[in-house]
Amino acid sequence: MSETIYLLNGPNLNLLGQRQPEIYGYDTLDDVESACRALLPDGLELMAFQSNHEGALIDTIHAARQDGCAIVINPGAFTHTSVAILDALNAFEGIVIEVHLSNVHKRETFRHHSYVSLRADGVIAGLGIEGYAAAIRHILRQLGTDD
Ligand code: DQA
Repeated sequence: MSETIYLLNGPNLNLLGQRQPEIYGYDTLDDVESACRALLPDGLELMAFQSNHEGALIDTIHAARQDGCAIVINPGAFTHTSVAILDALNAFEGIVIEVHLSNVHKRETFRHHSYVSLRADGVIAGLGIEGYAAAIRHILRQLGTDD
């Protein structure tokens, strides 16, 4: 049974709350993970993982092939560079939602292109940490576990 939602965060997001707070806000990654966990009904698990290393994120996406029903991913800067993360997501059959804290489309042009968007079922940008909760709520509705 696939009963786990994977919450993946890429490079530099371990510094959330300290790193460029004028762009990314003051909430921490722990705040994000607890807010997401609080939304889950009994029987659904959250597997939260952050890494600054592309290969570690790819290994975790592969692990999600076993027990993951959905992936919420903020790939950080790998969004704009990583064909390898796109390929890994293409090998995953569940729901994929891409989240960005900032509105990447309002920023430098190199942030306007996302490899991950070629696979994502939904993309949320610019809502700060609320974007992660919106992604989880959407997944719960898709899975029919929101009542
Ligand atoms: C980000 C946007 C990326 O362009 C950037 O490299 C990040 C964070 C966001 O959440 O807004 O690290 O994914």
